[in-house]
Amino acid sequence: MSSPFDGGVVLVTGASSGIGAALARQLAGRARVLILVARRQENLQALAEAIGDKTACEIEPVDLSDPAAVDALAARVLERHGAVDVLVNNAGLGDIGLFERSDLSKLDFLAAARGAPLRGSPPAAPEA
Ligand SMILES: NC(=O)c1ccc[n+]([C@@H]2O[C@H](COP(=O)([O-])OP(=O)(O)OC[C@H]3O[C@@H](n4cnc5c(N)ncnc54)[C@H](OP(=O)(O)O)[C@@H]3O)[C@@H](O)[C@H]2O)c1
Repeated sequence: MSSPFDGGVVLVTGASSGIGAALARQLAGRARVLILVARRQENLQALAEAIGDKTACEIEPVDLSDPAAVDALAARVLERHGAVDVLVNNAGLGDIGLFERSDLSKLDFLAAARGAPLRGSPPAAPEA
C-alpha cells in the first residue's frame, strides 16, 4: 500500500530545526512537494538547498502564533495545490518548571499553533 507521503504534497511546520528539519530530510525524494514552515527563513533556505533536486521545496517563513499569517499561508497553499496530502503539525516549544510560573506567551503560542490547522481554510482539507 502506498503512503500519502510518497508523491504527495507535505507541509511540515517547525521545519527550521530539530525534529521538523530531520523529518523533511527523511521525506526528500519521497514527497513530490515539501512546504517548509517556520519563522527562521535562513534555516528553511539552507534546508531546501540541502534537499536540492530530490524534492521541490517551498519556503514559507510564517509565525504560526499570528492567526492572520496562518490564514494567509492556508490561502497560498490552497491556491498553489488545492490541498495538502499530509500536514506534519510539529512546530512547538518546550517549557520546564512549575506550571504557576509558566510564561503565558509560550502557552498562548502553543494554543495558537496547535489550532492553526483548524483556522480559515484548513490546508489539509480538500475542497468538497
Ligand atoms: N525534542 C523532544 O524531546 C520533544 C519532546 C516532546 C515534544 N516535542 C515537540 O516536538 C516538536 C519539535 O521539537 P524539537 O525538539 O524539534 O524543537 P525545536 O528544534 O525547538 O523546533 C521547534 C520548531 O518549531 C518552530 N516554531 C516555534 N515557534 C514557532 C512559531 N511561532 N511559528 C512558526 N514556527 C515556530 C521553530 O522554528 P522557528 O524558531 O524558526 O520559528 C522550530 O522549527 C515541538 O512541538 C516540541 O514541543 C519535542
